[in-house]
Amino acid sequence: MSIRDFTADDADAVLRLRRVAFGGTSDVAVRPGQRALVAELDGRPAGVLTINSYHQFHGGVPVPTGGVGGVAVDPYARGRGVASGLLDRALESLREQGQPLSVLYATVPSLYRSRGWERAGVYESLDLTMDRLPAGGRVRARAATEADLDALHACYVDLASTVGGLLDRRGPAFDVADVLKLDVVSVVPGHDGEVRGYLTAQRDRDGLRVHDLVGRDRDTLLGLLRELASWTGVLDKVSLRVTDPAVTGLLTDQAIRYQLTQSTWLLRVVDLAEAVAARGWPAAAFLKPAAVDLDVVDEHAPWNAGPHRIVVDGGRVRVERGGGGAVRVHARALGPWFAGTQDTHALRRAGLLDGDAGLLDLLVGAPGVPRLADFF
Ligand SMILES: CC(C)(COP(=O)(O)OP(=O)(O)OC[C@H]1O[C@@H](n2cnc3c(N)ncnc32)[C@H](O)[C@@H]1OP(=O)(O)O)[C@@H](O)C(=O)NCCC(=O)NCCS
Repeated sequence: MSIRDFTADDADAVLRLRRVAFGGTSDVAVRPGQRALVAELDGRPAGVLTINSYHQFHGGVPVPTGGVGGVAVDPYARGRGVASGLLDRALESLREQGQPLSVLYATVPSLYRSRGWERAGVYESLDLTMDRLPAGGRVRARAATEADLDALHACYVDLASTVGGLLDRRGPAFDVADVLKLDVVSVVPGHDGEVRGYLTAQRDRDGLRVHDLVGRDRDTLLGLLRELASWTGVLDKVSLRVTDPAVTGLLTDQAIRYQLTQSTWLLRVVDLAEAVAARGWPAAAFLKPAAVDLDVVDEHAPWNAGPHRIVVDGGRVRVERGGGGAVRVHARALGPWFAGTQDTHALRRAGLLDGDAGLLDLLVGAPGVPRLADFF
């Protein structure tokens, strides 16, 4: 087997591989902001993997992130390590292209876990019945135009920078003008061309799918939620994608039980030193100088492996090679730690970390969601 970069001559073979694997009908093999790797067996393409160029917010800073997708292997060639080989090559490519993180949605988690990706975040959509929408004030919304696009995007980015994991949705992977193709694009204008908030949604046979409901303040958010209530009568419920956790966590009125569709995404710290350098570390400003010595187990990204020291000093965080390696940490632990999803106690129980590493928790403020496992 050989693995190489995609060339234009591969387009038909790649579209066929994806159609057979996923049943899709796309006619574009590689989109702007994407690159692809092709695995060849006996001189013909037998597998493909796509990498999207994204930036994902961590600690308020957009970190270059490779979004891996469309991993497809010809049925006859499965079970021979083709996908694993593509992932190994992808790790090198991500590092070469300056993407110290990688994120993906996995249909086969074991495959990606074996290469160091691990569950680190969610993509959620909430079904909200009309009677559960909050009563709220009105805002003067209007239909968005091309002139609003930059301000609308700025409104999104101001939110995204405060929500760990959201993408910055900049080009070339994203075209902000695409938003105008949606059925509903309502904006709440502010002063001097600013957008105070916006609502994007698509109507289909099943109902209304809200893509984003984003606002800079409570009145704007309640006003946009009120716009959703205007669908009462024709619809019993709307499906609301969770972009801002304040909306579904603090403003809507769902009861104890409600329908939440959740997908999980997996994160891979491709290059520990570069990922730490690229991230924001708001908590570091409040910490005294400190360090934790790691011994990283990472056979598929060997540049991460071995002793590394994470140093907090003067409000900044950096990774140095060396140190005593007191805390053994598996590559799979790095994603959930970096995203603040799992604390070191959980990582230890899962066999992904050994040793006392409370500083790691302090740095990322993990974990975020208190939990009850008793119902009453
Ligand atoms: C999933 C897919 C890409 C795997 O490709 P592959 O070349 O057969 O994978 P590999 O041979 O490298 O397998 C690596 C490991 O993953 C496991 N694995 C592969 N496919 C699996 C599946 N469908 N379910 C469970 N485990 C699977 C293998 O058992 C192997 O584990 P092992 O090393 O412990 O034996 C391929 O089956 C495919 O194209 N499926 C349809 C499309 C798809 O689901 N893509 C994934 C999108 S996230």
